[in-house]
Amino acid sequence: MTKKTKEAWKTYGNVFDEFTIRNLFELSSKGHFLDMKSPISIGKEANIFTAEKEDGSLIIVKIYRLENCDFNKMYDYIKYDARYLNLKSKRRDIIFSWAQREFRNLMKARESGARVPLPLVCKYNILLMEYIGGKEPAPQLKSAHPEDAKEFMDRVVDYMRKMYKAGLVHGDLSEFNILNLNENPVIIDMSQGTVTTSINAEELLVRDIKNIVRFSKKLGLKMSEEDIKKKIVS
Ligand SMILES: Nc1ncnc2c1ncn2[C@@H]1O[C@H](COP(=O)(O)OP(=O)(O)OP(=O)(O)O)[C@@H](O)[C@H]1O
Ligand SMILES: [Mg+2]
Repeated sequence: MTKKTKEAWKTYGNVFDEFTIRNLFELSSKGHFLDMKSPISIGKEANIFTAEKEDGSLIIVKIYRLENCDFNKMYDYIKYDARYLNLKSKRRDIIFSWAQREFRNLMKARESGARVPLPLVCKYNILLMEYIGGKEPAPQLKSAHPEDAKEFMDRVVDYMRKMYKAGLVHGDLSEFNILNLNENPVIIDMSQGTVTTSINAEELLVRDIKNIVRFSKKLGLKMSEEDIKKKIVS
Protein backbone atom coordinates (compact mmCIF):
# COMPACT_ATOMS: atom_id res chain seq x y z
CA MET A 1 0.00 0.00 0.00
CA THR A 2 1.37 3.45 -0.86
CA LYS A 3 0.64 6.90 0.50
CA LYS A 4 -2.52 8.46 -0.86
CA THR A 5 -2.42 11.88 -2.49
CA LYS A 6 -4.63 14.76 -1.47
CA GLU A 7 -6.56 14.27 -4.69
CA ALA A 8 -7.15 10.61 -3.94
CA TRP A 9 -8.65 11.46 -0.52
CA LYS A 10 -11.30 13.50 -2.31
CA THR A 11 -13.04 10.30 -3.38
CA TYR A 12 -14.51 10.34 0.15
CA GLY A 13 -16.37 13.47 -0.90
CA ASN A 14 -19.68 11.64 -1.07
CA VAL A 15 -19.31 10.44 2.54
CA PHE A 16 -17.55 13.25 4.40
CA ASP A 17 -17.31 17.03 4.24
CA GLU A 18 -14.19 18.82 2.98
CA PHE A 19 -12.94 19.72 6.44
CA THR A 20 -12.98 16.08 7.54
CA ILE A 21 -11.28 14.91 4.36
CA ARG A 22 -8.54 17.51 4.78
CA ASN A 23 -7.88 16.31 8.32
CA LEU A 24 -7.83 12.68 7.23
CA PHE A 25 -5.25 13.62 4.64
CA GLU A 26 -3.19 15.47 7.25
CA LEU A 27 -3.27 12.59 9.70
CA SER A 28 -2.19 10.17 7.00
CA SER A 29 0.57 12.57 5.84
CA LYS A 30 1.91 12.60 9.39
CA GLY A 31 2.29 8.84 9.18
CA HIS A 32 -0.57 7.71 11.40
CA PHE A 33 -1.89 5.49 8.61
CA LEU A 34 -1.63 5.01 4.86
CA ASP A 35 -5.18 4.41 3.81
CA MET A 36 -8.55 3.39 5.19
CA LYS A 37 -10.22 0.12 4.27
CA SER A 38 -13.95 -0.36 3.83
CA PRO A 39 -15.99 0.73 6.86
CA ILE A 40 -16.58 -1.89 9.55
CA SER A 41 -19.49 0.01 11.03
CA ILE A 42 -21.70 2.95 10.14
CA GLY A 43 -23.39 4.00 13.35
CA LYS A 44 -25.87 6.67 14.30
CA GLU A 45 -23.17 9.29 14.73
CA ALA A 46 -19.89 7.83 13.53
CA ASN A 47 -18.32 5.80 10.74
CA ILE A 48 -15.65 3.32 11.78
CA PHE A 49 -12.85 2.16 9.51
CA THR A 50 -9.81 0.01 9.86
CA ALA A 51 -6.72 1.70 8.45
CA GLU A 52 -3.39 0.21 7.53
CA LYS A 53 -0.08 1.58 8.73
CA GLU A 54 3.18 1.49 6.86
CA ASP A 55 4.30 -1.61 8.78
CA GLY A 56 1.12 -3.45 7.80
CA SER A 57 -0.50 -3.21 11.24
CA LEU A 58 -4.03 -1.86 11.63
CA ILE A 59 -5.59 0.96 13.61
CA ILE A 60 -9.19 2.14 13.97
CA VAL A 61 -10.35 5.47 12.57
CA LYS A 62 -13.62 6.64 14.14
CA ILE A 63 -15.10 9.61 12.35
CA TYR A 64 -18.01 11.51 13.85
CA ARG A 65 -19.97 12.87 10.93
CA LEU A 66 -20.26 16.65 10.98
CA GLU A 67 -23.35 16.43 8.85
CA ASN A 68 -26.20 14.12 9.63
CA CYS A 69 -25.60 13.36 13.26
CA ASP A 70 -27.99 14.13 16.08
CA PHE A 71 -25.97 16.85 17.79
CA ASN A 72 -28.93 17.95 19.89
CA LYS A 73 -28.98 14.52 21.49
CA MET A 74 -25.19 14.68 21.89
CA TYR A 75 -25.57 18.00 23.66
CA ASP A 76 -28.21 16.56 26.00
CA TYR A 77 -25.74 13.86 27.01
CA ILE A 78 -22.56 15.92 27.31
CA LYS A 79 -24.00 19.01 29.02
CA TYR A 80 -24.21 17.24 32.42
CA ASP A 81 -20.57 16.11 32.27
CA ALA A 82 -18.72 18.03 35.00
CA ARG A 83 -15.84 18.55 32.53
CA TYR A 84 -18.04 20.24 29.91
CA LEU A 85 -20.43 22.41 31.89
CA ASN A 86 -19.46 25.51 29.92
CA LEU A 87 -20.03 23.98 26.52
CA LYS A 88 -22.33 26.02 24.29
CA SER A 89 -24.83 24.30 22.05
CA LYS A 90 -22.91 25.06 18.87
CA ARG A 91 -23.00 22.16 16.45
CA ARG A 92 -19.30 21.82 15.68
CA ASP A 93 -18.10 22.47 19.21
CA ILE A 94 -20.39 19.76 20.49
CA ILE A 95 -19.15 17.20 17.98
CA PHE A 96 -15.48 18.05 18.56
CA SER A 97 -15.98 17.87 22.33
CA TRP A 98 -17.80 14.60 21.89
CA ALA A 99 -14.80 13.03 20.11
CA GLN A 100 -12.40 14.58 22.60
CA ARG A 101 -14.45 13.25 25.50
CA GLU A 102 -14.26 9.72 24.08
CA PHE A 103 -10.48 10.11 23.78
CA ARG A 104 -10.16 11.31 27.39
CA ASN A 105 -12.45 8.55 28.65
CA LEU A 106 -10.44 5.87 26.84
CA MET A 107 -7.26 7.24 28.38
CA LYS A 108 -8.75 7.36 31.87
CA ALA A 109 -10.22 3.86 31.53
CA ARG A 110 -6.91 2.55 30.28
CA GLU A 111 -5.05 4.07 33.22
CA SER A 112 -7.56 2.48 35.60
CA GLY A 113 -6.54 -0.96 34.40
CA ALA A 114 -9.72 -1.73 32.42
CA ARG A 115 -9.13 -3.23 28.98
CA VAL A 116 -10.17 -0.69 26.34
CA PRO A 117 -8.59 0.30 23.00
CA LEU A 118 -5.54 2.53 23.45
CA PRO A 119 -6.48 6.01 22.18
CA LEU A 120 -3.86 7.38 19.77
CA VAL A 121 -4.91 10.79 18.43
CA CYS A 122 -7.98 13.00 18.48
CA LYS A 123 -8.22 15.68 15.83
CA TYR A 124 -11.51 17.58 15.76
CA ASN A 125 -14.12 14.92 14.88
CA ILE A 126 -11.62 12.14 14.12
CA LEU A 127 -10.42 9.65 16.70
CA LEU A 128 -7.62 7.16 16.10
CA MET A 129 -7.31 4.16 18.38
CA GLU A 130 -5.92 0.69 18.75
CA TYR A 131 -7.51 -1.96 16.57
CA ILE A 132 -9.04 -4.83 18.57
CA GLY A 133 -8.92 -8.09 16.65
CA GLY A 134 -6.79 -10.37 14.55
CA LYS A 135 -7.43 -11.02 10.88
CA GLU A 136 -11.01 -9.91 11.53
CA PRO A 137 -12.16 -7.34 14.07
CA ALA A 138 -13.12 -8.93 17.41
CA PRO A 139 -16.89 -9.64 17.44
CA GLN A 140 -19.36 -7.93 19.74
CA LEU A 141 -20.29 -9.93 22.84
CA LYS A 142 -23.88 -9.94 21.55
CA SER A 143 -22.94 -12.33 18.76
CA ALA A 144 -19.95 -14.10 20.36
CA HIS A 145 -21.05 -15.55 23.68
CA PRO A 146 -18.09 -16.51 25.90
CA GLU A 147 -17.31 -20.14 26.69
CA ASP A 148 -16.90 -19.37 30.38
CA ALA A 149 -19.68 -16.83 30.85
CA LYS A 150 -19.13 -16.34 34.57
CA GLU A 151 -15.45 -15.62 34.28
CA PHE A 152 -16.01 -13.27 31.34
CA MET A 153 -18.81 -11.27 33.00
CA ASP A 154 -16.93 -11.11 36.30
CA ARG A 155 -14.11 -9.45 34.42
CA VAL A 156 -16.52 -6.98 32.86
CA VAL A 157 -17.75 -6.06 36.36
CA ASP A 158 -14.15 -5.79 37.55
CA TYR A 159 -13.47 -3.33 34.70
CA MET A 160 -16.56 -1.34 35.69
CA ARG A 161 -15.20 -1.22 39.25
CA LYS A 162 -11.75 -0.13 38.10
CA MET A 163 -13.22 2.64 35.95
CA TYR A 164 -15.49 3.77 38.77
CA LYS A 165 -12.57 3.93 41.19
CA ALA A 166 -10.79 6.12 38.64
CA GLY A 167 -13.86 8.38 38.56
CA LEU A 168 -15.50 7.16 35.36
CA VAL A 169 -18.84 5.63 34.37
CA HIS A 170 -19.21 4.13 30.87
CA GLY A 171 -22.80 5.23 30.36
CA ASP A 172 -23.61 3.06 27.33
CA LEU A 173 -22.41 -0.34 28.43
CA SER A 174 -24.10 -3.35 26.85
CA GLU A 175 -23.32 -6.46 24.81
CA PHE A 176 -22.96 -4.15 21.80
CA ASN A 177 -20.07 -2.19 23.31
CA ILE A 178 -18.10 -5.12 24.69
CA LEU A 179 -15.94 -7.04 22.25
CA ASN A 180 -14.96 -10.67 22.74
CA LEU A 181 -11.28 -10.86 21.86
CA ASN A 182 -10.37 -14.55 22.11
CA GLU A 183 -12.46 -14.92 25.28
CA ASN A 184 -11.21 -11.64 26.78
CA PRO A 185 -13.58 -8.69 27.23
CA VAL A 186 -12.58 -5.36 25.70
CA ILE A 187 -14.84 -2.40 26.42
CA ILE A 188 -15.37 0.09 23.57
CA ASP A 189 -17.46 3.11 22.58
CA MET A 190 -16.78 5.43 25.51
CA SER A 191 -18.29 8.56 23.99
CA GLN A 192 -21.08 8.62 26.58
CA GLY A 193 -18.72 8.03 29.47
CA THR A 194 -18.88 10.64 32.20
CA VAL A 195 -17.04 11.50 35.39
CA THR A 196 -18.51 10.29 38.67
CA THR A 197 -18.90 13.89 39.86
CA SER A 198 -21.50 14.58 37.13
CA ILE A 199 -25.09 14.86 38.32
CA ASN A 200 -26.28 12.03 36.06
CA ALA A 201 -23.39 9.63 36.80
CA GLU A 202 -25.41 7.54 39.24
CA GLU A 203 -28.28 7.17 36.78
CA LEU A 204 -25.90 6.07 34.02
CA LEU A 205 -24.16 3.59 36.32
CA VAL A 206 -27.49 2.01 37.26
CA ARG A 207 -28.42 1.74 33.58
CA ASP A 208 -25.08 0.07 32.78
CA ILE A 209 -25.59 -2.41 35.63
CA LYS A 210 -29.14 -3.22 34.46
CA ASN A 211 -27.83 -3.96 30.95
CA ILE A 212 -25.11 -6.24 32.31
CA VAL A 213 -27.58 -8.12 34.52
CA ARG A 214 -30.08 -8.49 31.66
CA PHE A 215 -27.46 -9.89 29.29
CA SER A 216 -25.96 -12.14 31.99
CA LYS A 217 -29.39 -13.76 32.37
CA LYS A 218 -29.29 -14.60 28.68
CA LEU A 219 -25.97 -16.33 29.30
CA GLY A 220 -27.58 -18.36 32.08
CA LEU A 221 -25.96 -16.45 34.95
CA LYS A 222 -27.63 -15.20 38.09
CA MET A 223 -26.25 -11.77 38.91
CA SER A 224 -28.14 -9.28 41.03
CA GLU A 225 -28.08 -5.55 40.47
CA GLU A 226 -27.48 -4.94 44.18
CA ASP A 227 -24.45 -7.27 44.33
CA ILE A 228 -22.86 -5.74 41.25
CA LYS A 229 -23.42 -2.22 42.49
CA LYS A 230 -21.84 -3.11 45.82
CA LYS A 231 -18.84 -4.60 44.05
CA ILE A 232 -18.40 -1.47 41.95
CA VAL A 233 -18.90 1.29 44.48
CA SER A 234 -17.66 -0.21 47.76
N1 LIG B 1 -11.13 -0.40 18.47
C1 LIG B 1 -11.91 -1.22 17.76
N2 LIG B 1 -11.42 -2.40 17.27
C2 LIG B 1 -12.21 -3.22 16.54
N3 LIG B 1 -13.50 -2.96 16.24
C3 LIG B 1 -14.04 -1.81 16.69
C4 LIG B 1 -13.27 -0.89 17.48
N4 LIG B 1 -14.06 0.16 17.78
C5 LIG B 1 -15.26 -0.08 17.22
N5 LIG B 1 -15.27 -1.27 16.57
C6 LIG B 1 -16.39 -1.88 15.84
O1 LIG B 1 -17.26 -0.86 15.34
C7 LIG B 1 -18.55 -0.96 15.96
C8 LIG B 1 -19.07 0.43 16.25
O2 LIG B 1 -18.17 1.11 17.12
P1 LIG B 1 -18.67 2.03 18.31
O3 LIG B 1 -19.54 1.22 19.21
O4 LIG B 1 -17.48 2.70 18.88
O5 LIG B 1 -19.49 3.10 17.53
P2 LIG B 1 -21.05 3.43 17.43
O6 LIG B 1 -21.86 2.56 18.33
O7 LIG B 1 -21.41 3.56 16.04
O8 LIG B 1 -20.87 4.80 18.03
P3 LIG B 1 -21.90 5.91 18.29
O9 LIG B 1 -23.02 5.27 19.07
O10 LIG B 1 -21.04 6.83 19.10
O11 LIG B 1 -22.31 6.41 16.95
C9 LIG B 1 -18.32 -1.78 17.20
O12 LIG B 1 -19.46 -2.45 17.61
C10 LIG B 1 -17.23 -2.74 16.77
O13 LIG B 1 -17.79 -3.82 16.07
MG1 LIG C 1 -21.46 1.24 19.93
